[in-house]
Amino acid sequence: MALRNGPDEFGLVTRVMHWVMAILILVMLALGLRISSMEPGLSNLWLYGLHKTLGLTLLALVVLRILWHLASRPPAPIGPPGRMRLFVKTWHWTLYGLMIAVPISGWAGSSASGIDTVFAETFVVPPLVQPSERAEFVWFILHEIFAKTLLGMVIVHILAALRREMGGDGTLTRMLRGRA
Ligand code: HEM
Ligand code: HEM
Repeated sequence: MALRNGPDEFGLVTRVMHWVMAILILVMLALGLRISSMEPGLSNLWLYGLHKTLGLTLLALVVLRILWHLASRPPAPIGPPGRMRLFVKTWHWTLYGLMIAVPISGWAGSSASGIDTVFAETFVVPPLVQPSERAEFVWFILHEIFAKTLLGMVIVHILAALRREMGGDGTLTRMLRGRA
């Protein structure tokens, strides 16, 4: 079982990162929507802590994933080269952009609130911006827009993957088993 990606194959490292991050992102989208509809209080503060810890973990994971893909290029989307392939690649790169923008904006909004951002209840991460009500408002609006755009794009991504797999081109099989 190859660890690295091949010209027509997703290696084990890429596949594990894809599925671990996919699960965490779906959990985080649900958790984020839940906490944003709650009144912060002592009983639910741990949910905010969990959201921030998982979010910062995802930020570290996406950096590692990008570095890995620079070292081991993933295969091109299945199908003949052309506009469709370019479109799928651009979609994937936009997903990467959002996987960075979502946690950064959440981290910046939390910093602007003036409350320490604590990772795993152990260490305080440095603030990204100075505390200010205006900055807090703007960063959390951006966090919401980026997160909801990510949610919409992920839904399309999942439907497209299922549709192509049902069409018989092996797109999903390749992300599950490595080869189509
Ligand atoms: C991939 C990572 C992340 C995802 C998918 C995510 C997703 C979300 C979503 C969907 C919301 C609800 C937005 C709304 O409807 O207003 C939210 C809220 C929130 N997020 Fe994140 N988030 C991530 C990372 C982070 C990080 C790293 C932090 C801070 C260090 C953070 C802090 C917050 C806070 C404090 C709220 C509540 C804001 C409010 O009460 O209006 N998030 N997140
Ligand atoms: C939930 C968040 C998700 C994100 C952010 C995401 C992101 C990505 C990205 C960036 C790629 C390009 C390959 C790479 O760079 O690793 C990819 C490929 C793929 N994803 Fe996801 N994904 C998610 C969830 C899912 C789910 C739930 C499915 C299941 C249907 C899925 C199916 C696939 C397939 C089949 C490919 C291979 C596409 C190809 O060969 O061109 N993804 N995903």
